[in-house]
Amino acid sequence: MHPFHTIIEPFRIKSVETWKFTTREERIAALVRARHNVFQIPAEDVLIDLLTDSGTGAMSSAQWGALINSDESYAGSRSFYRFERVVRDLTGFTHIIPTHQGRAAERILFHTILHPGMIVPNNSHFDTTRANIEVEDAEARDLVIPEGRQPSVVHPFKGNIDLAALEALLDRDGDRVPLVMVTVTNNSGGGQPVSLANLRGVRALCDRFGVPLFLDACRFAENAWFVKQREPGQAERSIPDIVREMASYADGMTMSAKKDPLGNIGGWLALDDDQLAERCRTMLILTEGFPTYGGLAGRDLEAVAQGLKEVVEEDYLRYRIRSTAYLGDALHRAGIPVVRPIGGHAVYLDARALLPHIPPLEYPGQSLAVALYEAGGIRGCEIGTVMFGLHPDGSEGPAPMDLVRLAIPRRTYTQSHIDYVVEVVRWVAERAKDLRGLRIVEAPPALRHFTARFSPLDDSGVRAGP
Ligand code: F0G
Repeated sequence: MHPFHTIIEPFRIKSVETWKFTTREERIAALVRARHNVFQIPAEDVLIDLLTDSGTGAMSSAQWGALINSDESYAGSRSFYRFERVVRDLTGFTHIIPTHQGRAAERILFHTILHPGMIVPNNSHFDTTRANIEVEDAEARDLVIPEGRQPSVVHPFKGNIDLAALEALLDRDGDRVPLVMVTVTNNSGGGQPVSLANLRGVRALCDRFGVPLFLDACRFAENAWFVKQREPGQAERSIPDIVREMASYADGMTMSAKKDPLGNIGGWLALDDDQLAERCRTMLILTEGFPTYGGLAGRDLEAVAQGLKEVVEEDYLRYRIRSTAYLGDALHRAGIPVVRPIGGHAVYLDARALLPHIPPLEYPGQSLAVALYEAGGIRGCEIGTVMFGLHPDGSEGPAPMDLVRLAIPRRTYTQSHIDYVVEVVRWVAERAKDLRGLRIVEAPPALRHFTARFSPLDDSGVRAGP
């Protein structure tokens, strides 16, 4: 090792994409057209797009090269067998069922095993996971440790599940729990990792009560990196070794290959149970495709297989986690409330703390997301009362936290882009008291954050402007 400390990008740039700069006036007009919902803004009108780290990463030249070598056969494609081998080596599961993205794996699994009235515990369900459970008239229950709900509390494994709460649930209502899930890393709770010790504890409870455990494993490599850095005794282990141990505690996993597997599309459902796999494959054929492509082209399977090799490299993970922390640490030093410690794939601004004058039901996170776009063309994503405040019975209440997630696409932005983000967030934070809440004018009954229409409120709490 050399004596220098600067952590640099472990790649150079071969192909670039130029973008368009917009004026503040153009962005205000775009917000009005989008009804103040940043999901409705055309991406061309966004300067730095931190809406999600899902499918937005840059592929490597090795991934692009693999596309040309793909096999597009309907049945038994060579690309499938490569994909299957890489996933199986990394996870150890018997059945690898490709899907077009993570939510397809969730839908197939939940539709196959859930009945009305059942309960699925998790540290925190993300939006589509929750919705795919609720659509089966089952309950998605979040059991993250109490530290995981307090943005400013520092804890090395804030994504851990509350084992006492899980035990109490299984003790009381175990017959209604068909599976336990753990999300690594915990996306809704700040991109926070789960420790091996916690997974071991969940496994022991699942064994005692005879319930299977599934990982929602989108950000498995980032989780493994945190384990290596933070969990006693893990520093000398390789990332694939830690990943295999994480998977060894589970009976299966759902995966979005749009995150850590470095694909622009893709996912899988992996599991050991032969009979359940058979039932899931039948559902797969119904809605996704034949089991050796499952809603993907052969080239997508190649890109994911190659991405899985790259994402577990330590030079990549060191850069990845450090560059997310670079943004988070700069904002924290500037006195802006963020979820701490900084997560793996994103920095989460604590909008409830930054905008105490906006009550949760006037959506402080949405207000902040809109302001970041207006000020600097930066698009983040509200993870708060808009996303999680509406319950299946139609009632509305504050979500546990009101956050704005600035998700970092993989290998896409440079340090100067991030320096610009810091400058814009600081500028907005200095004017936080001028921000106002919003009202929802129109929204669908589920997953409302994607399409809801908002109207800004003025000082008296009534609708202002268009
Ligand atoms: N589980 C988690 C923890 C996720 O973060 C996501 C997607 C999914 C499941 C579903 O995967 O998008 O491939 O269907 N999260 C994205 C995000 C959309 O922005 O965090 P998908």
